[in-house]
Amino acid sequence: MVATLEQRDFPVDQLKLLASTRGAGTKIEFKGKEYTVEVMTENSFAGMDIGLFSPGGSVSEKFAPIAGKAGCVVIDNTSAFRMDPQVPLVVPEVNAHAIARYGTKNIIANPNCSTIQMVVALKPIHDVARIKRVVVSTYQAVSGTGKRAVKELEDQVLAIYGNKEVTKTGLPPPDRLQLSSSH
Ligand SMILES: NC(=O)c1ccc[n+]([C@@H]2O[C@H](COP(=O)([O-])OP(=O)(O)OC[C@H]3O[C@@H](n4cnc5c(N)ncnc54)[C@H](OP(=O)(O)O)[C@@H]3O)[C@@H](O)[C@H]2O)c1
Repeated sequence: MVATLEQRDFPVDQLKLLASTRGAGTKIEFKGKEYTVEVMTENSFAGMDIGLFSPGGSVSEKFAPIAGKAGCVVIDNTSAFRMDPQVPLVVPEVNAHAIARYGTKNIIANPNCSTIQMVVALKPIHDVARIKRVVVSTYQAVSGTGKRAVKELEDQVLAIYGNKEVTKTGLPPPDRLQLSSSH
C-alpha cells in the first residue's frame, strides 16, 4: 500500500503507519523519509482523513468503526463489512458511484481479491450483453491469509526438502489453503 501511494504520487500530508505490537517499531521509507510503525490504538485516528485497513477481519471489525467515528474514512480490505448493508462494497472500475453511500459508517469495503479482478473483466461484457450467471472455482493463494501464512509455507517447504519435521500453527493447513474451491 505504501509503495502504491508513492508510485501514484498520492497527495499525503501526514502518514501514520500502524500495526500490532509485533510490527511496531519497524522502519518504512516513504518518499525518501523514514517512518516508524506505531501500535494501533483507539486514539490513532484523530485528524486522519483516510485509513487503509488490512489487519484481518476481527481487528477491522473492532477498529474500523472507531476510526470512522473519529472522521477517518476507512477503506477496508477484509471481509468484516462486505455484507453490511450500510457499507458500500466497491470496485472503483465497476461501481465507483456506490462510494457516495460511505458516510453512514465512514467505511468502504472491497470484495475478495479473486472477485475484484473478475468483475473488472466482466463489467464491460455485462454492460453490452447482460450476464445472468457466472460459475467460478477459485484456488485461493496462501498469501490471502497474510504474511504469517506465507512464512509458514516457506518454513514447511524448507522442512520437507531438508527432511525435517514439518511444524504447523493454527493457520489453515497447506492442502486447504492451496486447494480449497468455492463457487
Ligand atoms: N480484498 C482483498 O483483495 C484482499 C487481499 C488480500 C488480503 N485481504 C484480507 O486482508 C487481511 C489481511 O491480509 P494481508 O495479506 O494484508 O495480511 P498481512 O500481510 O499479515 O498484514 C496484516 C497487517 O495487519 C497488522 N495487524 C494484525 N493484527 C493487528 C492488530 N491487532 N492491530 C494492528 N495491526 C494489526 C499486521 O501487523 P503486525 O506486523 O503487527 O502483525 C500487518 O501489518 C485479511 O483479512 C485478508 O483476508 C483482502
